[in-house]
Amino acid sequence: MLAGRISKIETSQTMQVAAKAKELQAKGFNVVDLSVGEPDFPTPENVKNAGIKAIENNFTKYTVNVGLPELRQAIANKLKRDNRLDYSPSQIIVSNGAKQSLFNAVFSLVNPGDEVIIPAPYWVSYPNMVALAGGKNVFVPAKESDGFKITIDSLKNNISAKTKLLILCNPSNPTGAVYSKDELAQIADIIEENNIFVIADDIYEKLVYDGFEFASFASLKESLKERTIVVNGVSKAFSMTGWRLGYAAGPKEVISAMAKIQSHSTSNASSISQKAALEALSSTQEEVERMRKEFQNRRNLIFEGINNIEGLSAGMPQGAFYLFANVQKLFGKQSGNFQINSSLDFSLYLLEEAKVAIVPGIAFGMEGYIRISYAASTETLKEGIERIKKAVERLR
Ligand SMILES: Cc1ncc(COP(=O)(O)O)c(C=O)c1O
Repeated sequence: MLAGRISKIETSQTMQVAAKAKELQAKGFNVVDLSVGEPDFPTPENVKNAGIKAIENNFTKYTVNVGLPELRQAIANKLKRDNRLDYSPSQIIVSNGAKQSLFNAVFSLVNPGDEVIIPAPYWVSYPNMVALAGGKNVFVPAKESDGFKITIDSLKNNISAKTKLLILCNPSNPTGAVYSKDELAQIADIIEENNIFVIADDIYEKLVYDGFEFASFASLKESLKERTIVVNGVSKAFSMTGWRLGYAAGPKEVISAMAKIQSHSTSNASSISQKAALEALSSTQEEVERMRKEFQNRRNLIFEGINNIEGLSAGMPQGAFYLFANVQKLFGKQSGNFQINSSLDFSLYLLEEAKVAIVPGIAFGMEGYIRISYAASTETLKEGIERIKKAVERLR
């Protein structure tokens, strides 16, 4: 009955864990949910008010499919202000979340048989988007020993005549790794030499710590703009996941192709959300900084808490809101009916026995790790650490 392409994709395992956690919550269990990929803060007041005002003013109709001209101008201003990137509004598209921009960019660039390089561990949707487009995923390991970043040699070794695209998530979901300007410049050289396109997923750009200076890939060199699609949005920086508002900037031809796909699938992003995003991007950025600082405190807390548990270890993430912890020392251990031989075994053990939800590394294409989200309150994190500690201590 179903089209063949459906067999090429999988239901997001991060969503499966979250669904299982919600199921336990519905049954009355007090689950500490550290599996989520969204900030727990409310959307800033001025941004909410812009949305309310849009409704009150009956700004509730279709907009032009690529997004309101004033919003695209605000995005162009933002890219200039924050990223030193010069784009005209005609090189910008507004979409239903960064996810839709990523999807449309992949579908605009990838032909069946084209190879797409994805550093692993990866955000789960990338390989599924590529598979739906008929492309071939080429995973380049970003190992813990390399700070969860791809090396230049591993990148070079995975390039073939069929390589069309690299999808670079910086800062990284799920590891929190960030690429410095120098590291990006080295990647850029290889990319240009081999005539490869890049989708730069900058969605976590605002969440970087310890004074790290974020650089957007295309900003390193003017020529990179011809082969880069910058993707970003308001979900993570402004705690606006539910508003579904993202955007992309890139070569006109690619943006026009993305607009065509969007015009025949979802038309425009919500008119109300567009007004709210306009406020978010063009007003004070104080709330963004306040949330960033809070995430940094939480990161310090979870880093220390997890590294104090015998059998678990993690490096210090420098971006996003995830800790990617090594759990390999627990493999071969057991408690009751639970035998731990994989990250999934351990995740299920934590969920059932400690009522803590985290995501197994295997969901992101890397076995031996778990992703702990610290997009949760300090109290929740402390409780989560305590429960994980007790559960790990029960393993023999
Ligand atoms: C790496 C990455 N890119 C993109 C997205 C999608 O963000 P949006 O809510 O704007 O669609 C997410 C959301 O989890 C993400 O983690």
